[in-house]
Amino acid sequence: MFPNNFLWGGATAANQIEGAYNQGGKGLSIQDVLPRGVVHETTDGPTPDNLKLVAIDHYERYAEDIALFAEMGFKVYRFSIAWSRIFPNGDETEPNEEGLAFYDRILDELEKYGIEPLVTISHYETPLHLARHYGGWTNRALIDFFERYARALFTRYRGRIRYWLTFNEINSLLHIPILGGIDKPEPSRQELYQAMHHELVASGRVTRIAHEIDPSNQIGCMILAVPRYPLTPSPLDALATLQASQGDYAFGDIHCRGYYPGYLLRTLREQGIDLDITDADRADLANTVDFVSFSYYMSVCETADPTKQIKGEGNLIGGVPNPTLEASEWGWQIDPVGLRIILNDYWDRWQKPLFIVENGLGAKDVLTATPDGPTVDDSYRIAYMRDHLIQVGEAIEDGVDLLGYTSWGCIDVVSASTAEMSKRYGFIYVDRHDDGSGTLDRYRKKSFHWYRDVIASNGATLTD
Ligand code: BG6
Repeated sequence: MFPNNFLWGGATAANQIEGAYNQGGKGLSIQDVLPRGVVHETTDGPTPDNLKLVAIDHYERYAEDIALFAEMGFKVYRFSIAWSRIFPNGDETEPNEEGLAFYDRILDELEKYGIEPLVTISHYETPLHLARHYGGWTNRALIDFFERYARALFTRYRGRIRYWLTFNEINSLLHIPILGGIDKPEPSRQELYQAMHHELVASGRVTRIAHEIDPSNQIGCMILAVPRYPLTPSPLDALATLQASQGDYAFGDIHCRGYYPGYLLRTLREQGIDLDITDADRADLANTVDFVSFSYYMSVCETADPTKQIKGEGNLIGGVPNPTLEASEWGWQIDPVGLRIILNDYWDRWQKPLFIVENGLGAKDVLTATPDGPTVDDSYRIAYMRDHLIQVGEAIEDGVDLLGYTSWGCIDVVSASTAEMSKRYGFIYVDRHDDGSGTLDRYRKKSFHWYRDVIASNGATLTD
């Protein structure tokens, strides 16, 4: 079922795991000054209730954490590099050696256990200075800053990192602009699409540079994947579904084909958006990716009927709730079959190898004492993951070329959307709480042992 070289593992992001927000010469990123639960504007400075300032202190405890990943048998570990550790303000000309050395140490640990790194270059971590003084990605100057940053990484880690992702969930920019460093509540559509264009150009440009520096580099785009179903059999609902899907497809189409699709050009025309696209931009866009990666948490329904446009509670990027599905405690609707659908859909559409780089269940775990020590009985998480992985196996049988699967938040991290600790995804429990209390000690959950067996059997235990 699963190919022999299938890359099993887990995923994290620097701002949600590292802490040490002002150590090792790191500058501030937008994440260090985002208030909890508000996703539009940064605050004046770091506030004590921002859990990301300490996160789970992976900056100091990385060796212990990677040893636990190795114990589960990880073949791959996805993490992000914090841009502001390497270029503290984003616009310097030389990288910060202390920042580069930190990721050398991470790579040393991964190499010790034979774990393949999969690195996100930008995971919602734009340096604050670039947001405040340049307007984030609305400004064309960020393309050159990003190139300098990516070039520093490709050069320093040449031969040590082969799999790279350019922008985490690049399609989320249109929905949550602050994640692209656009630090104001209501940017115009013109600004948003121009920022999108700049990120796409930057992604294409660094794809070319990565291949020039080391032809064995494999570069992927990363899309927030949401299968969309018509709410009713009405052709108008089907059309609304197609058009909403195109909003996400556009990012994969451009990364895989190297140019803007006609439906996007029409949207821009009809919204009166006039993008600044140069010939040099077109040349950058033509550098297509080697593979397509995506996150998968939920599906949604679409309707053309304005009276039924009720947005799902936990859903950040549109769509209406599906009456046939259950939801997580945060309102994210659970749909394992949707993962098989999106895998087939993306594979048929782009014919590029795929990589599932996020999937998992955010839940409130309870640490309990047992004769073997404290643990969490997270049978609900095991059920969620088993159901999803069975559908992954089905998609592979369908002929989908899939490189691997990294579950989100393989160790508990601070949540991205709500900035809570109590929304946990991990196989490893971290003793830290929403009020900032806790020892930061790590404990294996029930799912830890379950996932170890899944990996050891290369997926065979899923259907036992
Ligand atoms: C993805 C992000 O959107 O979903 C991660 O890439 C994030 O950074 C994950 O943590 C889960 O979302 P949340 O809000 O539950 O942490």
